[in-house]
Amino acid sequence: MTDSPYLHPYPSPELERSHPFRKLRFQRLSPDEMNERADALYASLAERRSPRMYSSDPVPRSLIEQAIRTASTAPSGAHKQPWTWVVVSNPETKSQIRHAAEEEERINYLENRMNAEWQEAIAPLGTDHHKEFLEIAPWIVVLFEQRYELLADGERKKNYYVKESVGIAAGMFIAALHNMGLATLTHTPSPMAFLTKLLGRPANERPFVMFPVGYPTEDCKVPDFDRKPLSEIMITFD
Ligand SMILES: Cc1cc2nc3c(=O)[nH]c(=O)nc-3n(C[C@H](O)[C@H](O)[C@H](O)COP(=O)(O)O)c2cc1C
Repeated sequence: MTDSPYLHPYPSPELERSHPFRKLRFQRLSPDEMNERADALYASLAERRSPRMYSSDPVPRSLIEQAIRTASTAPSGAHKQPWTWVVVSNPETKSQIRHAAEEEERINYLENRMNAEWQEAIAPLGTDHHKEFLEIAPWIVVLFEQRYELLADGERKKNYYVKESVGIAAGMFIAALHNMGLATLTHTPSPMAFLTKLLGRPANERPFVMFPVGYPTEDCKVPDFDRKPLSEIMITFD
């Protein structure tokens, strides 16, 4: 007998007889290495920003693919991986996306579809309905959430915690791009149904976020924002 504190170990012998399991690969690090890694990732991600001016300099497709692979390691409800990543470099398609996004944003900004409180919240960003970067950036990656799973025979299967799962994957995508020296903007020109149509996606998929990806222009500026300190965002029960 071991001195395991677990009265109910996972997986139970019965579970392991009916479903495959494998040994977890996990490496404990030294305290020094843990601190070094923690500090390095924080220092790197603290430098991440969302540019709105992109250069047209090309970015290899392999980097976009690797960022999507990385994002797709995200945890997801019932391991359903309820996401589709549509990767666009075609100039004509980018142009169509830009013009459709600008039309929605024109209504948001100029015809008051965004209410006063919302407009006030985004005033420090100074964004408007012009979205030239959607044509200029070398890539647009559109992340779709799969509201339910559509099997080949047309049967629907439920997905679980779709928004949470896709949100986590989106965050990992952003971090992966930043880590490889690329920039992106989390862009939501809502309503985004035009993307389903333009990109020919099926009815079970809904646009979640679109990401222009590339390098910022040399003279790119971003709002002079600070992030909330830990004392404002963390509550402790010791
Ligand atoms: C869910 C979500 C939607 C966003 N939508 C837009 C958008 O449509 N247009 C835009 O310019 N920025 C958008 N942003 C970017 C935020 O404005 C930006 O992340 C925030 O101002 C902080 O700046 P930073 O990312 O440079 O740290 C969005 C961010 C999130 C998380």
